[in-house]
Amino acid sequence: MVKMAVIGCGYWGPNLIRNFHGLPDVELKSIADLDRARLDHVGKLYPHVQRTTDYREIIANPEIDAVVVATPVSTHFSIGREVLEAGKHLFVEKPMAASSEQCRLLNDLAADRELQIMVGHTFCFTPAVRKIRELIQMGELGDIFYVDITRVNLGLFQQDVNVVWDLAPHDIAMLNYLFEATPEVVSATGRSYVQQGIEDVAFLTLEYPGRQIAHIHVSWLDPNKIRKSTFVGSRKMLVYDDVSSLEKIRVYDKGVDVLPHYDNFGEFQLSYRFGDIFIPRVEQVEPLKIETAHFVACIQGRDLPLSSGQHGLQVVEVLEKACLSIRQDGQPYHLEYSEA
Ligand SMILES: NC(=O)c1ccc[n+]([C@@H]2O[C@H](COP(=O)([O-])OP(=O)(O)OC[C@H]3O[C@@H](n4cnc5c(N)ncnc54)[C@H](O)[C@@H]3O)[C@@H](O)[C@H]2O)c1
Repeated sequence: MVKMAVIGCGYWGPNLIRNFHGLPDVELKSIADLDRARLDHVGKLYPHVQRTTDYREIIANPEIDAVVVATPVSTHFSIGREVLEAGKHLFVEKPMAASSEQCRLLNDLAADRELQIMVGHTFCFTPAVRKIRELIQMGELGDIFYVDITRVNLGLFQQDVNVVWDLAPHDIAMLNYLFEATPEVVSATGRSYVQQGIEDVAFLTLEYPGRQIAHIHVSWLDPNKIRKSTFVGSRKMLVYDDVSSLEKIRVYDKGVDVLPHYDNFGEFQLSYRFGDIFIPRVEQVEPLKIETAHFVACIQGRDLPLSSGQHGLQVVEVLEKACLSIRQDGQPYHLEYSEA
C-alpha cells in the first residue's frame, strides 16, 4: 500500500482526493487546507482520513510516502521542496512551479533523493488525446501542418497567475505529448482588461520542429465555454471538442491536392477533397483515474512518469517566454531547454 496525503482541497483538490482514495493500492492518510470550512466540507466524504489546517503535519509524518500538492501555483515550489526534503514522492498540479528555476531545483532535489515527481498535466492522460496521438502515429492525418486551439470561458479568474499560466499549460503539455517534441519559438500577445497587470486574454503562437505551427487562444473573458482543437494535416483534418460528451473527435477526409502535372500557370489547378467524416470511439474513462494510477505505478517502480518533472519544466519554460513576449508586444523568443 502507498500511503498518501493531499494538500489543497479547493476546486481541483477534491477530484484528486476522490481518485487517489479510489485506488486499491493507496491508503489516503491525510488531507490539508488552510481553510477549515473547506477542509471539513471535503473531509466529511472521507471520515477515516485525518484533516489538518497545517500541511507541515503531513510533511512531518514518517508514515506518508507521497504527497499531492493542489494549492495555488505560487505555493508549489515551497511546499514541493519541503515534501521532497522529507523524502516523499511529489505529485504537483500544473503548472509545476512559478519559474523554470524553481522547477530545476525541484528536479535536482528529486534526483538527489531518488524520488518521483509527477506534474498534473491531465491532458496527457485523456483518452481522446491518446486517441489523437494514435491517429497521428498511424499517419491517418499525414504530416501535421498546423494546430489551432481555443480554450476560453467566463472565468475562473485567478489572482496569483495570468491566463497563460492558468490555462495554456494544458495545451503546451498536450502538444508536446502529441508531437513528442518541444516548441522552438514562441510569441504571444495578451491584455489585462479586468484585473490590472494580470492578463485575462492571450494568443500564443508556437513553432515546433518541422514547420508545424500551433496557435493557442486562452481567455477568462468569453461568453462561451469552448475547448476545441483543430489539427490540419496533409491527408486529413481532425477536430477535438473536449466539451462534447459523445463525439469528442471528428476526422474529416478533407483537403486540397495540387494536380501533379502542369506546364504553365494557366494549367495550375487545385483539387478539393470533401470526403467522409469519421468519429472514432473514445474510451469513457476519467483522465484522473489513469493519471493517479500512473503516479502510483511510478512510485512502485512499475512505470516512469509520463508527465515528469522534466516535462513540467519544459512547459514552464514556454510559459515564461510567452509572458516575456507579451511584455515585448509579441516579439518571438527562441527556446533553449535546460536539462534538470
Ligand atoms: N489539472 C487540471 O485540470 C487542473 C484544473 C484546475 C486546477 N488545477 C491546478 O490545481 C491547483 C489548485 O487550483 P484550484 O483551482 O483548486 O485552486 P483553489 O484556490 O480553488 O484551491 C486551492 C486550495 O489550496 C488551499 N491552500 C492554499 N495554500 C495552502 C497551504 N499553504 N496549505 C494548505 N492549503 C492551502 C486554499 O485554501 C484552497 O482551498 C493549481 O495549480 C491549478 O492550476 C489543475
